[in-house]
Amino acid sequence: MALEFTVTERADRASDDARAKILADPGFGNYFTDHMVRIAWDAASGWHDAAVSAYEPFQLDPAAAVLHYAQEIFEGMKAYRHADGSVWTFRPEANAARFARSATRLALPVLPEADFIESLKQLTSIDKSWVPEAADGGEASLYLRPFMFASEAFLGVRPAKSVTFSVIASPAGAYFGGGGVKPVNLWISTDYARAGEGGTGNAKCGGNYASSLAGQLEGIAAGCDQAVFLDSSTHTYIEELGGMNLFLVYRDGRIVTPELTGTILEGVTRSSILELAKELGLSPEERRIPIQEWKDAAAAGELAEVFACGTAAVVTPVGELRWEGGSCDHRREGHTDEVATRIRGTLLDIQYGRAEDTHGWLTRL
Ligand code: COI
Repeated sequence: MALEFTVTERADRASDDARAKILADPGFGNYFTDHMVRIAWDAASGWHDAAVSAYEPFQLDPAAAVLHYAQEIFEGMKAYRHADGSVWTFRPEANAARFARSATRLALPVLPEADFIESLKQLTSIDKSWVPEAADGGEASLYLRPFMFASEAFLGVRPAKSVTFSVIASPAGAYFGGGGVKPVNLWISTDYARAGEGGTGNAKCGGNYASSLAGQLEGIAAGCDQAVFLDSSTHTYIEELGGMNLFLVYRDGRIVTPELTGTILEGVTRSSILELAKELGLSPEERRIPIQEWKDAAAAGELAEVFACGTAAVVTPVGELRWEGGSCDHRREGHTDEVATRIRGTLLDIQYGRAEDTHGWLTRL
């Protein structure tokens, strides 16, 4: 049976002026709306106490299992305002399904799809004024962050018997700033891997992101924006960036992304791009990509573009690739990120209701 939500509206909402100021330049992940969703789970009674209430800190016991053993998962989604004022989200069933897979991998309870989607509707409905209007070609949206964590106060290592599900929302501009079209430079992380075979690489859990940070720091020290991780067993094949999937575009029209080996995240943006690429006359391929192939194709002038993608990053062109003692750049005189720009535009047009949703990807919130 679907959960019933109790809604308690806060009396001290942000003023129109304060909200407008934030929406004018939100950046990414800096500000949060007036309310949040909470649903409790315990082993004896299952999911219960679904509630929308004021955004506030959790009261967490210092022994809460999540703080010690990282039993936690999350999703990243967005609410988009269309020209008629209506608010929509993109492929929430895919996020709900991935959230369920992540929950199973982290030994957390599965929240039914209907309750997952209803929680997004509840929060977006009470905080609708926080969904920004996006300029044509812009990326302003309300980023939705559903997450679940082990809240039981217990230090033994076993699946927690009490768990909290929550959704918070954060007005967002481009993840990297600069409208999402400024290329990012990547560092090949060889000392660190993000995930190993049989591990949690294909689950969206906080631990994967924590394990990517040392590689990212190494990249930043080398003047890059992000690190690209390789497979942990042979350090040969491209996996992902930690928070984004990667595509290589060849001059002959092939558009290639690492296949899902169990160690990389199955991005909703990634799978949408694989579908859109065919419709745009490109030849998508999912396969293992040796990092050497990138270097060789860049040197031979066969590589036209590289881009990263994800819910937060949308489609972000990649510039230089650097590693210990070397670098390469596929860009030549007069380079434009034409394919990345077309795919980004096609995706944003669907998400913002400027193009027909022929795939049935949008759900009204
Ligand atoms: C997203 O794209 O939504 C993510 O969760 C990744 C993170 C880099 C923000």
